[in-house]
Amino acid sequence: MEGRKAAAVFITSPTYHGICSNLAEISKLGHSHGIPLIVDEAHGAHLGFHPQLPNSALQQGADLAVQSTHKVLCSLTQSSMLHMLGNIVDSERIGRCLQTLQSTSPSFLLLASLDAARAQLSENPDTIFNKAMELAFEAKHLIKEIPGISVFDLASFSNFPAIDPLRLTIGFWQLGLSGYEADEILCRDHGITCELVGTQSLTFVINLGTSRDHIQRLVSGIKHLTGTHAPIHGGKGRLQHSGCTPFADIKMSMIPRDAFFASKKKVSIAECLGEVCGEFICPFPPGIPVLIPGEIITDKALDYLLDVRNEGAVITGASDPLLTSIVIVVAHAMPPIFCRLTPSPVIIINHQHTSYPSFNF
Ligand SMILES: Cc1ncc(COP(=O)(O)O)c(C=O)c1O
Repeated sequence: MEGRKAAAVFITSPTYHGICSNLAEISKLGHSHGIPLIVDEAHGAHLGFHPQLPNSALQQGADLAVQSTHKVLCSLTQSSMLHMLGNIVDSERIGRCLQTLQSTSPSFLLLASLDAARAQLSENPDTIFNKAMELAFEAKHLIKEIPGISVFDLASFSNFPAIDPLRLTIGFWQLGLSGYEADEILCRDHGITCELVGTQSLTFVINLGTSRDHIQRLVSGIKHLTGTHAPIHGGKGRLQHSGCTPFADIKMSMIPRDAFFASKKKVSIAECLGEVCGEFICPFPPGIPVLIPGEIITDKALDYLLDVRNEGAVITGASDPLLTSIVIVVAHAMPPIFCRLTPSPVIIINHQHTSYPSFNF
């Protein structure tokens, strides 16, 4: 990086759990060096549409923001929007880049649903989230009263300016239950479907379709869970790795592209420690890779993967979803038809796996 200017800063905000970064400060700093801010705002298409919701990325000076409109608003699955503001990024160049990625046969069903979601917001932009906000505060208040249950809120972290009030992350570790176990019971016995399962917590989304009945069912389901699983004194849950996630100190041996094109072989899990990973290994939920091609396989990452597999996570991406074996890189082979370019570096800030001292995800 020395002597080279960053092409952009890329950041995910909010995270899946609704944690928002200080984009206003980050964009100001970047812009003072002529560097644009690109935000993965997949979970934030609703931000800015209520006085108590955090400001959106564009409101905070981002140059590009990608939103999964389908996640929080009411468009069809797969539909999303790319928003641009300002003149640091060349819009014609963005258009040309999109042409290389997009189909020449767009789905008018998806486009119409995006337009409907936009119209729905623009009819009542100041009040549309009133009911959802009211229900979210009510749910948080009622759930916080239940002994043995932890609710993730602003007090659980100090370095971030805001949290999306419509994301509700609930910890079950004091009951000795993993997120997977709590999810199974809530779904089977109460018909409650969460948005995201963590090793020790569940995240729920309250949105335009949520009703008071849903909140009552959630609260009574959690109360029932605490009735059948008494809090363990000083309970910390069975998974103890959450304070030191394997994601904090990753080591890349080669860039993912080189690892993708390299020769590979499958080895048993016992033989892969210290080798260069040749595939994506991505437990779902939450669906975020723990190892990617080119990354050195550490014991921390392996311990984490085996723990979450044993707890009930499905391992996606891996050629062996049971994780008895892993594909590793054996030789570095670049096909000659591809020329290697050295683009300007992009600074990537990812808080998806940041750990927060007083909350175990
Ligand atoms: C932070 C983040 N960015 C991007 C995506 C991908 O969004 P989409 O499913 O709309 O492609 C996800 C999916 O969950 C996500 O969590």
